[in-house]
Amino acid sequence: MTRYSRITGTGSYLPPRRLTNAALAAELAGKGVETSDEWIVERTGIKARHFAAPEVASSDLGLEAARRAIEAAGLQVTDIDLIIVATSTPDMVFPSVACILQHKLGIAGCPAFDIQAVCSGFVYALTVADAMIKSGAANKALVVGAEVFSRLLDFSDRTTCVLFGDGAGAVVLEVSETAGLLASDLHADGKHTGILCVPGNVSGGQVLGSALLEMDGQAVFKLAVGVLESAARTTLAKAGLHESDIDWLIPHQANLRIMHSTAKKLKLPLEKLIVTVDQHGNTSAASIPLALDTAVRSGKIERGDILMLEGVGGGFTWGAVLLKY
Ligand code: UT7
Repeated sequence: MTRYSRITGTGSYLPPRRLTNAALAAELAGKGVETSDEWIVERTGIKARHFAAPEVASSDLGLEAARRAIEAAGLQVTDIDLIIVATSTPDMVFPSVACILQHKLGIAGCPAFDIQAVCSGFVYALTVADAMIKSGAANKALVVGAEVFSRLLDFSDRTTCVLFGDGAGAVVLEVSETAGLLASDLHADGKHTGILCVPGNVSGGQVLGSALLEMDGQAVFKLAVGVLESAARTTLAKAGLHESDIDWLIPHQANLRIMHSTAKKLKLPLEKLIVTVDQHGNTSAASIPLALDTAVRSGKIERGDILMLEGVGGGFTWGAVLLKY
């Protein structure tokens, strides 16, 4: 039998503390930082974000999303034989969030590791899990995107602190006789490190450099619009499909203007665009599985639909995964 991989369950989780733009603007005003609901909505489409409590880590958010995905797949936790977590906000330097999550799920033994490709992390992780399933290395993979990006934010920088939030999403990817994941296309170009980074590192018991997020928003915007179109087209070509075959476009949820532009370039009506960025802001590696799960649970996405997942972010990294749900 040819081994394919297929998503059999999705789950997601947002921490309870929700800040609307107005609430965030009021908090920032107390620090002398001026912003407004109007500016944030007009430039980004974001209306609210969720922030995790200080004691809550990426593995905790990932745990809730993972449990929901495993339940939706109709599996037991003990059925999982591979765990991959996409994150740039790990609980600790090491071990990986995936290992910590494995223990919190109450299982042991299966391989577990993190993937660090920032906002492209989920499409990277899905591609790796697919390859491991196709090779026979795994049968029932748990693929998670989990982030506490609020920990990296400089709340004196209004150009970045209004954009990001915390959350997690997960899927169970199982071996299948019929194709689920159809094609993927991953890229990176390290020369763009400086346009989106957290340039600190841990050394001698201290953080050297800054542990806060820095971004040249306009440079990221321009690069993102171009690469999202090319990754989508390459992925379609690999699968022998066309733009019109896409039922749902699920891009990284960072900025509604980038998402609209991508849909337009692919000649897709905006009704085919899954949008959740308004409700949780940019949750980096968690954003695609959060949007996917929301659309599945709302009944928008149905079995057999063709989905185009697209990630873009720090690295610079980008990529797409085309799949039959
Ligand atoms: O996950 C990785 C992917 N990251 C992204 O996708 C981010 C991509 N970039 C963006 O989404 C946009 O570039 C931003 C939303 C970050 C910025 O939007 P923009 O339309 O590029 O705005 P801008 O940087 O050109 O700033 C326009 C004005 C400036 O004021 P002046 O110089 O025109 O007087 C900024 O100081 O808006 C001002 N501004 C703000 N005003 C109120 C910047 N941030 C804010 C703010 N509130 N939060």
